[in-house]
Amino acid sequence: MRCVWQVLLAALLLSSVAADEEIVLAIALFRHGARTPLHTLPQGKDPCTWPIGPRTMGQLTGTGEKQLYTLGKYYRDRYVSTHQLVSPSYNASEILVISSGTDRTVMSAYAAMLGLYPPGSNPGGPVGIQPIPIISSSDCPWTTQPDAIFSEYLTCPYVRHIKHHTSSTPEWQSVEKRYSPFMKRMKALFGLDYNISAWQIRSIFDPINCGLAEGCPLPAFLTRSDWSTISDIHRLKMHARTGKYDYLWTRMESTPILRLWDRFISDSIAGWPQARAVFFSGHDTTVEGVLATLNAWPDSAPTAPFGSHVELELTQGDLGEYWIRIYYQGEVVQLPGCGGPSCSIEEWRGILQRSLVDLSLCDEVGVHDARERVDL
Ligand SMILES: *[C@@H]1O[C@H](CO)[C@@H](O)[C@H](O)[C@H]1NC(C)=O
Ligand SMILES: *[C@@H]1O[C@H](CO)[C@@H](O)[C@H](O)[C@H]1NC(C)=O
Repeated sequence: MRCVWQVLLAALLLSSVAADEEIVLAIALFRHGARTPLHTLPQGKDPCTWPIGPRTMGQLTGTGEKQLYTLGKYYRDRYVSTHQLVSPSYNASEILVISSGTDRTVMSAYAAMLGLYPPGSNPGGPVGIQPIPIISSSDCPWTTQPDAIFSEYLTCPYVRHIKHHTSSTPEWQSVEKRYSPFMKRMKALFGLDYNISAWQIRSIFDPINCGLAEGCPLPAFLTRSDWSTISDIHRLKMHARTGKYDYLWTRMESTPILRLWDRFISDSIAGWPQARAVFFSGHDTTVEGVLATLNAWPDSAPTAPFGSHVELELTQGDLGEYWIRIYYQGEVVQLPGCGGPSCSIEEWRGILQRSLVDLSLCDEVGVHDARERVDL
């Protein structure tokens, strides 16, 4: 009997805490929307027609713009209407938008902000829409290399080294072996004049995937089953890329952005928030890297789609205590290392302490020593 009451009491407590929780900070990270391909197929092989000219590759399309506008409306629903975290009209003290320095991510941030502050949300303004600052340059106050916080830790020789060697690990070599006949068949089907390895799958995956997002069909010579194999190889590659075989790569790449998140959390708790909502406009590698570093990116996870999004919400309960909750695609992510769907600040800090890497490794030591010094 006592046990039943305890369970009931626990349930009541849980629900009352949830009801009284107030979101005090939201950090959102999204992948840019659908874009034009980064690779082209040989002439006559792509059923989709793409614009040709300078700076036409990797650009946000109308489809991508709409995806991010829709996401911005979701943020307006959640953070303006439901939780009143930020005001219905833009207030510079409340939001901060940080974008990777590519056209598609800056445009994605712009489209999301149009959803968050739609035309009409700025009634006194002179031009009908609300311009929102998007930080995406070397003037970014938190880092001298803004893209280092999104995906490529370009300046770190050690990360470059790991990246370079991932395709020669025994694990990846066994993937190459398994798919070698398939890749030979793809070379013939696509009429490629080079031998394509499984590691290079993106050169055929990317244009087709971009085409499908725009409503183009699969190339007529490709079966559904071929496409599903191509997608699967790409998924394996992305997991290798986020560090399945060398987790350190991901931890090093995601350390700058997660440190930044933690700093926003500390500032909020200290009562001097930099913003109430912070938006990061990044790439698949950013989204997957952050989740992988938090140990929440299982091997079976398909590649983060265009417009996919992660949110971190810092809430305060009625006893003044703080909680952190992570969402992916709007669903709560249960982080290993947390006792429930919400993490206490101590649990969160514990996860960061185990996952983040001291990046001075990049400056100080050679490739070999760095590996020795990090506790894998
Ligand atoms: C803007 O937001 C800050 C922080 O929430 C608040 O203190 C301030 O009153 C707001 N300004 C306006 C004009 O609403
Ligand atoms: C492709 O690989 C085959 C061996 O599998 C080799 O004979 C051929 O020269 C290679 N072609 C190119 C273009 O590298």
